[in-house]
Amino acid sequence: MACRVQYSIHNSLRLFFSSSPNFHTSVKCQRISLRNSKFSLSKGSLYCTCRASYTTNAADPFVLTTPLYYVNAPPHMGSAYTTIAADAIARFQRLLGKEVIFITGTDEHGEKIASAAAANGSSPSEHCDIISEGYRALWKELDISYDKFIRTTDSNHEASSGGQGVLAKGDIYRADYEGLYCVNCEEYKDEKELLDDNCCPMHLKPCVRRKEDNYFFALSKYQKQLEEILIENPDFVQPSFRMNEVQGWVKSGLRDFSISRASVNWGIPVPNDAKQTIYVWFDALLGYISALLEDNKQPSLQTAIFSGWPASLHLIGKDILRFHAVYWPAMLMSAGISLPKKVFGHGFLTKDGMKMGKSLGNTLEPTELVHRFGPDAVRYFFLKEVEFGGDGDYSEDRFINIINANLANTIGNLLNRTLGLLRKNCQSTITVDSAIAAEGNAFKDIVGNLVDKARQHYENLELSSACEAVLEIGTAGNVYIDEKAPWSLFKQGESGFETASKDLVIVLEAIRIVAIALSPITPSLSLRIYTQLGYSEDQFNAVSWSETRWGGLKFGHITTEPKPVFARIELETDSNNATSEAKKASKKKERQKTQKVVEA
Ligand code: MSP
Repeated sequence: MACRVQYSIHNSLRLFFSSSPNFHTSVKCQRISLRNSKFSLSKGSLYCTCRASYTTNAADPFVLTTPLYYVNAPPHMGSAYTTIAADAIARFQRLLGKEVIFITGTDEHGEKIASAAAANGSSPSEHCDIISEGYRALWKELDISYDKFIRTTDSNHEASSGGQGVLAKGDIYRADYEGLYCVNCEEYKDEKELLDDNCCPMHLKPCVRRKEDNYFFALSKYQKQLEEILIENPDFVQPSFRMNEVQGWVKSGLRDFSISRASVNWGIPVPNDAKQTIYVWFDALLGYISALLEDNKQPSLQTAIFSGWPASLHLIGKDILRFHAVYWPAMLMSAGISLPKKVFGHGFLTKDGMKMGKSLGNTLEPTELVHRFGPDAVRYFFLKEVEFGGDGDYSEDRFINIINANLANTIGNLLNRTLGLLRKNCQSTITVDSAIAAEGNAFKDIVGNLVDKARQHYENLELSSACEAVLEIGTAGNVYIDEKAPWSLFKQGESGFETASKDLVIVLEAIRIVAIALSPITPSLSLRIYTQLGYSEDQFNAVSWSETRWGGLKFGHITTEPKPVFARIELETDSNNATSEAKKASKKKERQKTQKVVEA
């Protein structure tokens, strides 16, 4: 229970500054225009002394964030999941021609990190360096195309968030607090939410009773404004069922929360109060803004804001929704900074129904998955098989079946067999413009409709449905080529040649479109497809969504030698060893069958 207002604000804490009482915040309004604002410099801080006005600008960058990951332990598949999804969205936006600023990074302060470092026998900063580097290395393995990687221990971040005021002065007070703290959540818990023995429902570990004297943020003052914002901006929190959850929290009453810690040394010191450090969540949320700082610019919150704030999308897991959809908007309102446009809370990857996590130790190792199956398989499986927004369980059998069926067979094998036929019969050359080849052909319309569907799904963040729509093009391509059987037409000699070669062009054009439309999800596979189709890596990198329009392959274009773009996953487990000879024989048979299909 908080024992409130025991102290008055006793110093000129530079952490907090006043914003105009006239300030109106709306998530509909986007970019702060400083034309009418005056800033005066005082004690190294910028104080906004008049009302900021907002304007929307179509040329605003698409600023996308993942959470900043705790570095208490190396990343696991659950943490990688948010980043894979964010990467797919960032790549899609770039295909649309948007300037994208994709922010990820690590959250490195606080008690949980200090304890993890101590348990490893290292200093907090050594520990953070190693784990943070592990995140970067994993992002590289997973083909994550981030633009900014922020560490909350970066000096720029500390300079822009710790050293200057953020919240309105009247929103801060000092008080004693006593309550049950979950170190893994880094949060005081409401006792009603706890399980037996005061266990945190998320981490299944007992919370610890704490009593400290802290600075508090008057969240309760923002209840009405938050309620209004949520009503006026029904898409602010997505999926919609999470919006209902957020509205429920706000309606049930908001409690002030502490924004400093007296007992934690590993953190950014509160200016003018060396006994307190800034609460790790407060520190990390500001990282979304300080990440926007450019290397050659003065590190201040204002310069960061001018480099692209507000965020277009915060992508997070459902466990940290309250911080992002309630605490963070209220903090921003207090500071007079515009709100992010959207917060999307996805579900959990689970193992045996429990959230996969570092604290429970039931994790799946992403590096091992990438080394065994490659980045495209890992990205595709989790984005296609887990409905974005809901929970999803991993099973190796399902993983292998899906990847083999969709990437190796439906897409990879279709390309391989079609290119094989083109090589054998047409010297790997496109014999007619794809636009001419498909004139009056219903297949072209099917592809066009599916591409439009995929785009719509990407825009709505329905990543699984976007994958489905693109895969359907591959399925339709397989049906088309099987029905048309160009291999038989080629056998008829000149009379069948024109139709058969047109059919190959039609199928290859569809695969070219698949490569672009699936590139946000499977960037390496898409590049391999594109290069087999005879394009350079530079051409692939310059491609835009508009090139999913039918008609890219032109008469005279030469494709390259067909090689499987995606090898089937073949696994031999211990229990299989006894029958491994039999298995090898059946695999050989299967390979022969596949070869026949390729030859066909
Ligand atoms: N440091 C905070 C975030 C601060 S953002 C300003 C934090 N870090 S975390 O490492 O614990 O979690 C980061 C993200 O990983 C969260 O969005 C969380 O939901 C996500 N996941 C962690 N385990 C997960 C699964 N098992 N499944 C899906 N996502 C999960 O919270």
